Amino acid sequence: MNVWLGPGLLPAETLREELAGCYGVVCLLTDRIDRVLIESLPDLRFVSSMSVGVDHIDVAALTERGIPLGYTPGVLVETTADTTFALLLAAARRVCEADRFVREGSWRLENRWSPDFFAGKDVAGATLGLLGLGEIGQAVARRAQAFGMRVVAWNRSPRNVPGVENLDLETLLAASDFVSVHVALAAETRGLLNAERIALMKPGAVLVNTARGGIVDEVALVAALASGRLSAAGIDVFAQEPVPAGHPLLTLPNVVLTPHIGSATAQTRARMADLATRNAIAALKGEHMPHCANPEVYGG
Ligand code: GLV
Repeated sequence: MNVWLGPGLLPAETLREELAGCYGVVCLLTDRIDRVLIESLPDLRFVSSMSVGVDHIDVAALTERGIPLGYTPGVLVETTADTTFALLLAAARRVCEADRFVREGSWRLENRWSPDFFAGKDVAGATLGLLGLGEIGQAVARRAQAFGMRVVAWNRSPRNVPGVENLDLETLLAASDFVSVHVALAAETRGLLNAERIALMKPGAVLVNTARGGIVDEVALVAALASGRLSAAGIDVFAQEPVPAGHPLLTLPNVVLTPHIGSATAQTRARMADLATRNAIAALKGEHMPHCANPEVYGG
């Protein structure tokens, strides 16, 4: 058994060398398991990723070879919904901007409470539009309803969720004060929130993304935030991670940024590790993985 202990991310070449001759791989979402790597591993019989997203893995290349891919759905739903709501509230009420203001000593007698001092955006009574109404989207909807929000959603196939109205994408974008992204990154969702769709969003709307960076056009998002067309954003995921120094999002005061920590609680990470391990052990025993992202490899 080979275990990578860092430092930093495993470079593609080292990953190929380390995995040579491997029967199975247990990986994180920072490990790129692409077709070239998969084809360099003739003995590979399973991959188990400690993540619910599998966009870092060429699933088609695994499926073609009948190799099961384990993933960790379900266990991170509530934690990721909490992160989403934390970003939504922080962006709406300018929490990070206000924190910086206090820390840097700007809160002075000549610069204090006034009627529009740090005026943000109300959440109660506002409309939240969910892009994706899977388990995480539904968990965010429950939180939003408890906060007095109207919740609308767009999902590839409309879903019947209590209190959530299904809308088409364009209508949702025009109707929502807050938009939160909860679709998986795949060919059909890459660039889903492009410049044209961002232009359809309600003036002053807030965008929250805890799904994947590639779903939102970052250049268009930066332009919309800089011009004030969107009032704020809460962003946990980026097209390139770690986000490069000098990225224009880092210069905008009205954006709350976190480093892909949607599922980051000790309890949830332990549950994810447990599922990833159970998937790997099942594969080692020649059994079906309990959570397989490409179950067609088992036939039937
Ligand atoms: C987190 O982003 C995950 O896919 O588990």
